[in-house]
Amino acid sequence: MERELRTLDDVEDAIRSLAVRGAPAIGVAAALGLVASFARETTPSRDALRAAIERLARSRPTAVNLPWAMARLRRVVESAPIGTPLLDALAAEAERLLAEDAAMCDAIGRHGAALLADGARVLTHCNAGALATAGIGTALAPVYTAVAAGRRVEVIACETRPLLQGSRITAWELAEAGVPVTVCTDSMAASLMRAGRVDVVLVGADRIAANGDVANKIGTYALAIAASYHGVPFYVAAPSSTIDPEAPDGSAIPIEQRDADEVRRLGDRQLAPPNAAVHNPAFDITPAALITAVVTDGGIARPPYQFAR
Ligand code: MRU
Repeated sequence: MERELRTLDDVEDAIRSLAVRGAPAIGVAAALGLVASFARETTPSRDALRAAIERLARSRPTAVNLPWAMARLRRVVESAPIGTPLLDALAAEAERLLAEDAAMCDAIGRHGAALLADGARVLTHCNAGALATAGIGTALAPVYTAVAAGRRVEVIACETRPLLQGSRITAWELAEAGVPVTVCTDSMAASLMRAGRVDVVLVGADRIAANGDVANKIGTYALAIAASYHGVPFYVAAPSSTIDPEAPDGSAIPIEQRDADEVRRLGDRQLAPPNAAVHNPAFDITPAALITAVVTDGGIARPPYQFAR
């Protein structure tokens, strides 16, 4: 589905409401959106641009790709001559972010495909595919690359409560690409592992701390514990823009708390009583000790992790 974003309000709303979501996609969308929202101005002040950048950087707190992309634009704001040259330089930088993200996805695909044998059954969570990035995805990139190389790969997509990115997005994009996909509820994953029906778990990330702790969609931590217990390799795939060397470990990563109605309701239907208290963190932290390897555009990192961008 297409949505036209013309103003800063449009861009901020699209990010907050998850019309565009997924760590790399929100960084790129914010960059292109910032440029679009100043397209009708000829000489915006540096202060106006700085304020807009700060505002978009704060629109979702966990994925570091967003402040990372905004920091790239901020450097342009501080260095280019004011007026049209500055707007042109911002547009060029936003286009570069778009192209770089697609290239990083391809590289993740090349490195990560080596982890998937012919016949692999891959369990994933949330959506870390093409619809979360400017390219072929992060966690799904190795799947697409292995399939393109002629290997048979099946995916089990956890539905991902409360917003169901797994069933609504991952299952849709894999089916469109002709990759066999089976949806399971989040609570079925451990018993599938116990039954020997999962060869690897492969998930994306919203922020990776320097020590290898990973913030990803709520439910990822439980999958990592189950995978460790059942001896199933647990892989994280993300571009280097998702690494936050300034977060020494997972406790430094801010976790987004979202609206209670995302849990109380399912689409138009009220499930829990409207006054029931709700716990709705959008992400959790998986400790590095549970992660077999991290696949980035730079290659495959194994413990002990020490990430720098
Ligand atoms: O809240 P979302 O849908 O933006 O969260 C995205 C995720 O957590 C994805 O699983 C992901 O791995 C990071 S984006 C490739």
